[in-house]
Amino acid sequence: MYPKESPPIDFAARRAAFFKKLGGGVALLVGADLQTRNDDVDFPFRQESDFYFLTGFAEPKALALFSPGSKAKFQLFVPPKDKERELWDGYRLGVQGAKQILKADAAFSSDTDDWEKALLEALPHADRIYYRVGRNADRDRRIFTLLEKAKRQHWKGGRWLWPIHDPHELLSETRLVKSKAEIARLQIAAKISAEAHVNAMRAAKPGMFEYEVQAVIEHTFRARGAWRVGYESIVASGHNACILHYNTNQRKMERNELLLIDAGAEYDYYTADITRTFPVSGTFTKEQAEVYDLVLEAQKEAIRSARPGKKFSEINDTVIEVLTEGLKKLKVLKGPTKTLIAKKAYRPYYPHGASHWLGMDVHDAGRYYDQSPEKSRLMAAGQVLTVEPGLYFGAESDGPARFKGIGVRIEDDVWITP
Ligand code: GLY
Ligand code: MN
Ligand code: MN
Repeated sequence: MYPKESPPIDFAARRAAFFKKLGGGVALLVGADLQTRNDDVDFPFRQESDFYFLTGFAEPKALALFSPGSKAKFQLFVPPKDKERELWDGYRLGVQGAKQILKADAAFSSDTDDWEKALLEALPHADRIYYRVGRNADRDRRIFTLLEKAKRQHWKGGRWLWPIHDPHELLSETRLVKSKAEIARLQIAAKISAEAHVNAMRAAKPGMFEYEVQAVIEHTFRARGAWRVGYESIVASGHNACILHYNTNQRKMERNELLLIDAGAEYDYYTADITRTFPVSGTFTKEQAEVYDLVLEAQKEAIRSARPGKKFSEINDTVIEVLTEGLKKLKVLKGPTKTLIAKKAYRPYYPHGASHWLGMDVHDAGRYYDQSPEKSRLMAAGQVLTVEPGLYFGAESDGPARFKGIGVRIEDDVWITP
């Protein structure tokens, strides 16, 4: 199957690049925690992407300290080996494993306050701290208290203020440009997802429930080696297609309806994001075909505009132009195209954007602007993005009655190459 095709991720090289950006700072990254679903049952765990990007550690309750000024530059704090806990929850890499396998310079148990001591020791060698505030109030308070303590200890030495920055600031631009190994994983995720969409098209028929098609999709994901979904699968029939993030997937599909599926497999921490819309009974009605053809035209045109050196915003601008022209032809909009675009007349039918970065997260890391929100950044080789125009005529929409209940989105994933 697919797994053998992807070269290994070079976590050490990622850390080396991170240390360069870190300069005289010290960074404390906190891994994801388990979320209780009920009693002793947790929601499925997935490591936080920045944390995994730098460490390759995939268990809950971990911290990583990066301190270029210390002897141990990369320290990991992980759940220690524990026979009883491992019997219930599974294998733990443990403190030794963190050193030997993940190449930490030093490793400790995350059950103790060792991470606080290590941070306190690292601070005098640093001029700022990178730590993401606002995710865990208890941890924030501990860090603030610790900074006060360090301030009292070190102010006479001239070092007593450590501005707090977000480590994501250092990582997001690196994550935006994908390496060969990352592209390989994204291609696997995309291949698996495309196969799942084709299987769903083959399986879908009137009388089936949305969840049955979801089962086909997610069966293919897992059967092909995907680790999980990159986001909850949207399997939306009829007017449900007009709910952008619908994922209840409980409705029975009827003859002459469209089925919109937005589903992407995650493979080794990289996800695809694909949408297809097709007629449940195999043939489009005239109205469905009109809407579908217009969305497809917009998508093809927008994909042509996705190339290095062009503004990221050009993807959405292209979609808006094609859709506005098309909506005029379909007699949904009336008036000069320029005025309609300036007034955002398309908004009731096309309420979202046409693209976002794609990678470890479905809405991946990286800025969309240069300095100001008015200044779109330029696309460049190595970026991966989606192109996803759509048109939605919800039950409440003001559009012509003949389009009511029709929702179409088409989404593909694009790798920008030279
Ligand atoms: N599946 C979420 C999105 O398309 O952005
Ligand atoms: Mn998307
Ligand atoms: Mn999507």
